[in-house]
Formats: sequence, structure tokens, C-alpha cells
Amino acid sequence: MSSKIRLGILGGGGDSLIGVLHRVASTMYDKYQVVGGVFSSNLKENIGFAKKIGLPTNRIYEDFDTLIAEELKRSENERMQVVSILTPNFLHFPMAKKLLENGFNVICEKPMTTTYAEAAILNEILKKAKTVFAVTYTYTGYPMIRQMREMIKNGALGNIQKVDAQYYQGWINPIIHDKSKRSSTWRLNPEKSGISCCIGDIGTHAFDMLEYVSGVKIESVLADLNYLYSDNKMDIDGTVLLRCSNNVKGVICASQIATGEENSFVVKVYGDKAGVKWEQENPNYLYLMQDGKPLQVFKPGHDYNSALSLDGTKLPPGHPEGIFDSMGNIYKGVAKAINKEPYNSGEFPTMIDGVRGMSFIEKAVESHQNGNVWVNIDTVD
Ligand SMILES: NC(=O)c1ccc[n+]([C@@H]2O[C@H](COP(=O)([O-])OP(=O)(O)OC[C@H]3O[C@@H](n4cnc5c(N)ncnc54)[C@H](O)[C@@H]3O)[C@@H](O)[C@H]2O)c1
Repeated sequence: MSSKIRLGILGGGGDSLIGVLHRVASTMYDKYQVVGGVFSSNLKENIGFAKKIGLPTNRIYEDFDTLIAEELKRSENERMQVVSILTPNFLHFPMAKKLLENGFNVICEKPMTTTYAEAAILNEILKKAKTVFAVTYTYTGYPMIRQMREMIKNGALGNIQKVDAQYYQGWINPIIHDKSKRSSTWRLNPEKSGISCCIGDIGTHAFDMLEYVSGVKIESVLADLNYLYSDNKMDIDGTVLLRCSNNVKGVICASQIATGEENSFVVKVYGDKAGVKWEQENPNYLYLMQDGKPLQVFKPGHDYNSALSLDGTKLPPGHPEGIFDSMGNIYKGVAKAINKEPYNSGEFPTMIDGVRGMSFIEKAVESHQNGNVWVNIDTVD
């Protein structure tokens, strides 16, 4: 029998955005084998998709309740060991809850749930379940982001004094300006998406990223959001001021109406000795900026990089690492945790990161709704 980790997938069907990224990422280091799942709520589409990607259909289930019931009938050395949740947001909580309660490891897309209360419940369940739980803040898997984290941890910037993330997209323009389209997209429907679109979808990546690379904790936020139309209940743009630990301050600018922008996620951290900058659309370049010195550019795969960064590089320098590699690195870290091998805490985002992300979303919306006031992020353990 294969020693690969048996992976199930919920969502991520042929019509989805994120499914292919997870499937490719899971195979990248030969650690996982997809054995079944529920790719769609429509059984015919579900089975059709499984056949299309060459999966046997005996473990393709009608819904996630059936998946859990049938998988539990199998012996432990046949059962799915981990299940990835790639559905629209409102399904993350019921799926993750039931999976954890039944002893499965879970890889969950972000935002982790639709409310902070749900996230806090999952956190308590995980403490009892003691399984592995990862949240796919995908960009934390990039080798140059991992290098940024390690350089900051080792003091390359001195004392951190400012954090800044800009995440600009323009994809929602054709939807938001059309009344029928903006009322039929799940991302703009609070029942399916949660209370926020832009901050929930991409602001939360920025929040997690700043904490991941800088090591500072974001303690309170003041948000100014934009909804554009009175019948639209969901923000599609926002600026969030940040107050962090150690007197660090910063800003997150997120937008889905930044016309012409594709996926412009730019992360900057400044210390009293140096600053670093990274751009998702050119992810193989990490810039180190110092007063009075020439700009230094770090690239993946070179020996001067940290062990954490090099662990996520598969080929010699000069072979670009992209978004698939980044997700592949997160899956690799999760595989180590499932196999009880040693791993670096920076290898995958955890439940705590997911819960903090949900607090950020709710507090940013609360700040805006209460007239742009400072609101504290919940502390989580
Ligand atoms: N990490 C990232 O950078 C990133 C990027 C994009 C999306 N996401 C997240 O991934 C999730 C999915 O986003 P998407 O853009 O792929 O959405 P999507 O609408 O493109 O795809 C959703 C998929 O879920 C399936 N689905 C719906 N209901 C289901 C059910 N009851 N059971 C099983 N499958 C069901 C649909 O058939 C579809 O295949 C969201 O939570 C989103 O926030 C994360």
C-alpha cells in the first residue's frame, strides 16, 4: 500500500478557482494522494469531474455528511487522513467542525469561517481533537516571504517600526457596477461569504502576512471601507490603520475596485536599520533597503537564504517559484506535521492564524460601522 497521505477534497470542482491549485500543490512533493471527496453539491457534476481528473468514483460522495460517515466505516489505514475544504466560506465551519469532531486532519481555505464566534468554537474543538489544522494563507509559502520572516527574526532590520501591506485587485469592477450581477455573486452575499467581501477575502491575507513576516502582533484597527452602492452590503475596498505590539504602527490597503490591477499584493516592513519589500506579481525578488547602501536583491535557491526558505525551493537558482510552489510548500509542512516529523512553525498557518484573521475582519467592519473608531483585535490562545 502507498505510504502517501490519503487526502479528501471538499469543493474545488471543475468550475472553481482554487481547486487546481490545491490538487497540484498536494502532488508537488509526492506526499499526498487524492482518494476522493465531494467536488460539487451536484452529484452528477461531482462524479463527472472525478472521472475527468482520473479518480476512481467509489469514494466520491453525495455530500460531506456522507463522506464522513462512509470514511469512518473504513479501517484507519485506509481512511482519509486529511480533508481540504475549498468550498465557499459559509461551508467551512460546518465541514471543519464535523471533520475535527471525527478525528480528521483539516486543511481549510481562508477566511476560515464566516464569524469570529465560529472560529473560536473550532479552536476549542481542535484543542480536544489534537489533529493537524492548517489555514491556506497561500502566500506565506513563497520562498522569499519565508526568507523575509527569517531575516526579520534574525535582526536584519533592527527594531521594527512600520508594517505596510497593499493588496489591490480590480476583478470586481464588472460585477459591482451591474445590479443583477452584484446581487447574484456568492462573494457579495453575506449568507455565503460572511460580513465582508474585500477585507474578508484579501485584507485577511494582508493581516496574516504582516504578522507572519514581522513577528509583531496587530492589536487594534481603525477602518474606512467602501461599498460604492447602497444596495451592496459588502465592502469592496478598504483602508485599515494598524496599531501593533512594541509601538509599531502600519496600514493595510485592500481593494477589489483598483481598476486594471491583477493580484498586486505588496508587503513592506521597515526597521531602524533597514527595510524589506516583496511583490506577489514578482515573487522571486526580495528587496533589502538600507540608508547609504545600494539596494540588495535576494532570490530563491541560493545558499545565502535561510533553511526555511531553502526548504521551499525545488530547483537551482534561476527557476522561478510561483503560486503553485507556494501552496505546495504549505502542503509539505502539513505533511510533516501529519507524519509527526519535525517542522518549522513557519511552514503552515495554523488555527490561531485563522481565528485572528476572523477577528480582524469583524473588528475592521465594526470600526467602520461605528464611525471609523479604534477597535481591539481579540487575543487568542
Ligand atoms: N488562498 C487563496 O489565495 C484563495 C484564493 C481564492 C479562493 N480562496 C478561497 O477558496 C474558497 C473557494 O473559493 P473559489 O474562488 O474556488 O470559489 P468557487 O466559487 O470558484 O468554487 C467553489 C467550489 O465549491 C463547490 N461547492 C459549492 N458548494 C459545495 C458543497 N455543498 N459541497 C461540495 N462542493 C461545493 C463548487 O461546486 C465549486 O467547485 C473560498 O473560501 C475562497 O475564499 C482562497
